[in-house]
Amino acid sequence: MNNRLEGLVAIITGGGGRIGAATAQRMAAEGARVVVADLFKEAAVKVATAIGDNALPLHFDASSPESIEALIADTVDAFGRIDILHNNAALTDLDQLNLDTTVIDTPIDIWDNTLATNVRSFYLAAKHAIPHMLSQGGGSIINTASGAGIMAENSRIAYGVSKGAVITLTKYIATHHGRQGVRCNAIAPGLIVNEELEQKISDFVKITKRHLLAKRSGRPEDIAALAAFLASSDAEFINGQTICCDGGLLVHTPAMADVLDMSDESWGR
Ligand SMILES: NC(=O)c1ccc[n+]([C@@H]2O[C@H](COP(=O)([O-])OP(=O)(O)OC[C@H]3O[C@@H](n4cnc5c(N)ncnc54)[C@H](O)[C@@H]3O)[C@@H](O)[C@H]2O)c1
Repeated sequence: MNNRLEGLVAIITGGGGRIGAATAQRMAAEGARVVVADLFKEAAVKVATAIGDNALPLHFDASSPESIEALIADTVDAFGRIDILHNNAALTDLDQLNLDTTVIDTPIDIWDNTLATNVRSFYLAAKHAIPHMLSQGGGSIINTASGAGIMAENSRIAYGVSKGAVITLTKYIATHHGRQGVRCNAIAPGLIVNEELEQKISDFVKITKRHLLAKRSGRPEDIAALAAFLASSDAEFINGQTICCDGGLLVHTPAMADVLDMSDESWGR
């Protein structure tokens, strides 16, 4: 592992989860000091403990503006600076997720809470972190979007809209602060599973894999590698972009998998 992030300080929100944990580990392995921030402190502590002295676990609630402001202030108190902000937390409460369905059926409080947790939190964290980045000469913000913010899925309208908004927020932050040295890019993961989740939702994984242009499922480490690259000076000339990390899921026509299964006969050959 190289030391591209040596001397830098990173905040990873949702750091107790699959993608956040892998990103915190990857950024620390590349030399960064990392704040692992999550609604569930025990999950953040577990990830930070595995990393060691260069990781600080902090509790924060993405749905609370005060909590986000405190996260940025506590990071600066602890480490003196913020170079990398990985906005990655998203609503995970199953009772709420299950009510996020269609435009007709989704209750207004689920809509509001999803947008507050998934996108207002990204805006607020950027709002409080950017002044510190500007005083240091720049920084990198990486927002976790989703393929669901690019293409519509069968359910979860509030989630999809929140991720679409994350993509637009990313462009605005880059446009407003790029010339001041702040880069802001988004990652749109496709289906990303660890082995446990892959087994739990095996039917959905099977359907998704049929449409991938890859030999395997996406792993949290795939997103972590891209986040570390975007955080590093290797990505110095990349700003305002949304990069799909999805095994090619969204680059082809929806009928591709079926077309590949067609016989020569049905082509009239
Ligand atoms: N896994 C996928 O297939 C996939 C696909 C597209 C996008 N994403 C996005 O990637 C990001 C990470 O997802 P993941 O797969 O690691 O999921 P995950 O559930 O493992 O991690 C999400 C983390 O966010 C935390 N969280 C939830 N509500 C919070 C709140 N109010 N305040 C602070 N933290 C909170 C959870 O405790 C959890 O640790 C999310 O933004 C998700 O929308 C994931």
